[in-house]
Amino acid sequence: MKEEEQLQLIEKDALSKVNEAKNQNDLNDLRSFYTGKKSPLSDILKMMANLAIEQKKIIGKKANEVKTRIEESINARRKELEEAAINYRLQNERIDVSLPGKTFKVGTMHPLTRTIEEVEEIFMGMGYSIADGPEVEIDKFNFEMLNVPKGHPARDMQDSFYITENYLMRTQTSPVQVRTLLKKKGEPVKILAPGKVYRRDDDDATHSHQFMQFEGLVVDKNITMSDLKGTLELFVKKMFGSSLKIRFKPSYFPFTEPSVEVDVSCFKCGGSGCPICKHSGWIELLGAGMVHPNVLREAGYDPEVYQGFAFGIGIERATMMRHGIDDIRNFYLNDQRFLNQFKGEN
Ligand code: PHE
Repeated sequence: MKEEEQLQLIEKDALSKVNEAKNQNDLNDLRSFYTGKKSPLSDILKMMANLAIEQKKIIGKKANEVKTRIEESINARRKELEEAAINYRLQNERIDVSLPGKTFKVGTMHPLTRTIEEVEEIFMGMGYSIADGPEVEIDKFNFEMLNVPKGHPARDMQDSFYITENYLMRTQTSPVQVRTLLKKKGEPVKILAPGKVYRRDDDDATHSHQFMQFEGLVVDKNITMSDLKGTLELFVKKMFGSSLKIRFKPSYFPFTEPSVEVDVSCFKCGGSGCPICKHSGWIELLGAGMVHPNVLREAGYDPEVYQGFAFGIGIERATMMRHGIDDIRNFYLNDQRFLNQFKGEN
């Protein structure tokens, strides 16, 4: 009969379309097309008004069965598509836990930073505190209050980068001496001040227009030159090796009197002579001396009551000496081939 055939055709058509559906959207469209208000199925149901009661029962039942089967097939296909999507994701987003991990490049502490930390450690162990000062300094602290008035010939050795007539890039860490004394206002002082300094030098293997120094300053009653010697000897033994010796040579700094140049016996050859110590058996390490009375007086300390010693160590120089580095410029180039040699030593 006509309606039954139509129902069969509708079902066949719907089921094959449902099987071909590619995604959930297709299925939604098919559902409203085959089971919605304007579907061929509801056309048939509407036409049933004209049928005899017996026919109505049969066709009505069949139509409902067809509708149910179409809906079931849509639901089944929906499940199938969902599973396929999950399987697709499982396949494609699978994490291969056996793959080797990413390696991160790990840096290393800069050799100069390491020297600073070690030297700070040694001096803090002797009761020093760490002090600091600005790199842009006033002439008064960098020179004048250190007993280097304008026009003093010692200024020639430390020509600087001037910002104005009174402001310059500090040429030494010694202005931290003045700043600390002024701050302590007559109290005893025991400080170590690491930092950058600047000079108008041409860069070469042993000179750099910017480098670093440690300033040490001790001011108290009854401070003598033997305190200075004992302190530096202890420092050198801790830093470079317990078998090393130091020697003092007379020198000149305007802010210390007497002034000394301190040599360390060569850590490489032990004093017999080698290329590192230029066959002298000794390596020049630092400048030092007893604080000049003028410096104490200028900063408000009575030199009849207070004495002190000061020293200045080149951080690059000390680091070069320890590691046998022959060119100061290596420190500033950020060449990983150089820096990586200090890996594992932190
Ligand atoms: N400031 C001196 C220099 O840079 C070093 C020094 C410091 C000497 C303290 C004596 C005392 O050459």
